[in-house]
Amino acid sequence: MSYRVIVCASGGGSNLGALFQAFADDDGVVIVAVLSNRSDAGALNRARVRGVPGRVLQRPDDPAEWVALLDEFAPDLIVLAGYLQLVPPAVVERFRGRIINIHPSLLPAFGGSGMYGRRVHVAVIAAGARESGASVHLVDEDYDRGMVLAQQVVPVHGDDTPESLGVRVLAAEHALLPRVVRHAAAMGRPAPLDAGRFSS
Ligand code: GRF
Repeated sequence: MSYRVIVCASGGGSNLGALFQAFADDDGVVIVAVLSNRSDAGALNRARVRGVPGRVLQRPDDPAEWVALLDEFAPDLIVLAGYLQLVPPAVVERFRGRIINIHPSLLPAFGGSGMYGRRVHVAVIAAGARESGASVHLVDEDYDRGMVLAQQVVPVHGDDTPESLGVRVLAAEHALLPRVVRHAAAMGRPAPLDAGRFSS
């Protein structure tokens, strides 16, 4: 029985691409659907070219729409990979412990409402941090607050721009997220990765 994964993305979906690549020849983990709150999300194109069902959430705040999709696809895990909205609390409750998110900083630092994308790297550089990285955490009713399952650390260079740091962090995300999903499939649920802090 394959471990069924739904991926939610609002944008280009490079993390989704990393998951597709990681599990292309692994029938133990199957991405059964891609959801987006944006009909023009590049992530939906990535799904389309792989013949994976894509769905646009018409009312991302409406738990009923989510529940219908969860009933349709029966996922074991929901992965937020560049999904920029909160999951409705009723869905978090129903799926507690089985929704994960990837964030481009070493949480709890540089997380929370409004901290996404380039803004994170601007804040990290402005703070003079010597390291940054990617975090995968359980999703609850708030942004970036759930238990951290694993992190991948990258150095911050003195001459980094938000763009150069972003490229380095995104590469760490692409390595970390499939690792956490594979671990979740092996455990039957998301769980902290042993020594959950890797360096790239
Ligand atoms: C990533 O940096 C992720 O950490 C954040 O949103 C970005 C999504 O990028 N949540 P992509 O759409 O996966 O390329």
